[in-house]
Amino acid sequence: MTLLRVGAYLHLVSAILVTGYALFWVVMAVTLGREEPADAKRLLGVVRSSRWPPAGPLRLPLPVIGWGILVTLAATGLLLASLYPDGVAGIARPGGPWGSAMMVKLALFAVMLAGQVGITLRPSAALAFLNSVAAIGILYFSALLRH
Ligand code: HEM
Repeated sequence: MTLLRVGAYLHLVSAILVTGYALFWVVMAVTLGREEPADAKRLLGVVRSSRWPPAGPLRLPLPVIGWGILVTLAATGLLLASLYPDGVAGIARPGGPWGSAMMVKLALFAVMLAGQVGITLRPSAALAFLNSVAAIGILYFSALLRH
């Protein structure tokens, strides 16, 4: 398998994982939103501190798993871009080879990073919804990438 294929495989699997991660927070926010506001806030904090996977030797706090997936996405995305003739510089150039879809995708990725900082520090339903909309938007604009 070539580096391009391995990178693309990891990028796609991570895209699925991050979408699941974002939707997981929405499920938690909606479910816990049925509780009294003070309880909902406290329980979202409990979810934030929960360790995954539930059993096994390496159990990490949920937001750390999210950061791992986001870093993998950025790393494999940059790797993929570097394998094309215009290189990494091509992704940030207006009118570059990837088209404006890449600009929108990177802007949404920045929104997702900001949302993830918020979820790491103080999770809320608003942040959960913001991140899931950003994730789905990234998937949409990724499919429109031109190259
Ligand atoms: C710094 C962040 C990112 C960069 C630089 C980046 C870069 C890229 C590049 C260059 C490709 C084209 C690969 C190819 O055709 O060989 C790609 C495809 C893709 N990316 Fe990203 N990406 C990033 C973040 C994300 C995130 C956060 C997601 C998901 C939430 C995502 C989902 C996808 C998907 C689904 C494709 C495949 C699109 C298709 O072929 O139809 N990417 N990305």
